Amino acid sequence: MTKRPLKEDYQLKERFKTESEVFDKRTLLILSKLIKKGMLKTVDYPISTGKEANVFRASRPDGSFVAVKIYKIETGPFFRKEEYLEADPRFTRIKHKNYDIIVTFARKEFKNLEICEKARIHSPKPYYQIGNVLLMEFLGEGELPYPTLNVVGPLHGEADLESLLIDIKKLYKQGLVHADLSEYNVILKSDAPYIIDLGQGVILAHPSSEKFLLRDVTNVLHYFAKFGIKRNLEETMNWIRH
Ligand SMILES: Nc1ncnc2c1ncn2[C@@H]1O[C@H](COP(=O)(O)OP(=O)(O)OP(=O)(O)O)[C@@H](O)[C@H]1O
Ligand SMILES: [Mg+2]
Repeated sequence: MTKRPLKEDYQLKERFKTESEVFDKRTLLILSKLIKKGMLKTVDYPISTGKEANVFRASRPDGSFVAVKIYKIETGPFFRKEEYLEADPRFTRIKHKNYDIIVTFARKEFKNLEICEKARIHSPKPYYQIGNVLLMEFLGEGELPYPTLNVVGPLHGEADLESLLIDIKKLYKQGLVHADLSEYNVILKSDAPYIIDLGQGVILAHPSSEKFLLRDVTNVLHYFAKFGIKRNLEETMNWIRH
């Protein structure tokens, strides 16, 4: 009998630790449902592990790739203590409320991506959403996801800014503001910059929608100005609104 080297043992333990943190029971159940439905074959590797969500590259049975965004169910120390609330009927509502909010964000992102697709805004195509899991077009080539704007800077200079502003305007005309737009939420595909992370997008009726629009546009203009690509903020805001 061969004994596995210690280092490997450790790595294996670490892997399971990460996996069990990433996939809680409910998420695992959803993923296995998606596999049974034939929408997924394998979840391949994490593209990004963040505070609110993890994004994975996954494969479909036909060999094509998808991006799987999994909104994290347990966030913050309070929710990690969830097990202490189990079976106590006085607190089941709190637990459900937390889950419901997270599912609402996943659903909202899916719906916002649908609006983007219809309006021909550069963003990943939405495929499916169930619970806290969102399937969308994988923006990448072969094994690698495309980089975000903050990592590489604009690929086509002013044309990239122009494309982003047109997309912000199109989104606004659909009655939506991204509300978390910056160079971190833009992926650079070779043809154009793609807007991602639309879970917190708000409708124009939201009391802060104008403030969020101003912040989004300020972020974008400020970023491009670093590369000597300058636009006037006020004129750009007027152009978007009219
Ligand atoms: N469709 C996609 N194709 C390829 N990569 C993607 C896709 N969607 C997201 N990513 C990658 O995953 C990262 C995180 O995605 P996103 O911005 O949607 O999550 P997030 O809400 O910011 O997560 P957190 O706030 O927890 O970091 C992105 O910066 C990008 O690198
Ligand atoms: Mg993001």
